[in-house]
Amino acid sequence: MKNPISKDPACTKKVTLPREGIHSGSLILVNAQYRFQGKNNDLLIPVHDPFPDILLNRRAVVLLSELMQEIDGWRHIVPVSGWRSQEEQQAIWDDTVKESGLEFTRKYVAVPGHSEHQTGLAIDLGLKQEHVDFICPEFPYTGICQTFREKAAKYGFILRYPAGKEHVTGIGHEPWHFRYVGAPHAEIMSSKGLTLEEYTDFLTRFPYGDMPYQHVSGNKTIYISYIRADQGETTLNLPENLPYSLSGNNKDGYILTEWRTENAQQRELRRA
Ligand code: DAL
Ligand code: ZN
Repeated sequence: MKNPISKDPACTKKVTLPREGIHSGSLILVNAQYRFQGKNNDLLIPVHDPFPDILLNRRAVVLLSELMQEIDGWRHIVPVSGWRSQEEQQAIWDDTVKESGLEFTRKYVAVPGHSEHQTGLAIDLGLKQEHVDFICPEFPYTGICQTFREKAAKYGFILRYPAGKEHVTGIGHEPWHFRYVGAPHAEIMSSKGLTLEEYTDFLTRFPYGDMPYQHVSGNKTIYISYIRADQGETTLNLPENLPYSLSGNNKDGYILTEWRTENAQQRELRRA
């Protein structure tokens, strides 16, 4: 297979990434090991009009709204918890310890500073009913909630704390907690059964400039590669006039996603 990344300087533009950029973007890993260090307040908007106090990253809101529209989801589903400040996460931790003890709290509440809710990219959803539990809302694997779950990846969301991966995520199974990671990452993760911990590790096998991971979607081939951050700034040459997105991984580098349109002949050539 030929390396599809163009290295011809005439067709590339120079992009400089600051070191702190590894802490922001839709693919940041936030867990007990990796603290949230980004800033996000200017990107937050209400997730759904009837709940003006529940905020989420703007891009995540757009995609969640599209998904809810497709399944008429807001008729039976309510948002329970979106963005949380450090103070709010601390208050939730303290209250839960008081009410339910430390063992339960460790299982279902992230240590303050280490919660995905602080990124604005995570949303807890509950089945609409008279009483909705704030820490463990009901979100069954049947009916409208399951329909939501099955469509989530198409809109860039993953079930972040699945059953059987507690030893990887460090959090108990949470059927209600969804994390926006964006397209096509959510679909790749879902089809491979990878958590965000596993996916960010997996992508380090595809360093930029070598062979990227390739994902075909319609007539587009999406190239995904990992860029290890330098101590100071990281500079790279990216192809001119092609859509791409960059995200930090909150560990040690960035993930580059490039979209290219190819016809069947070009795809054959690339595979040759
Ligand atoms: N419930 C999740 C783990 C949190 O507190 O962020
Ligand atoms: Zn949650």
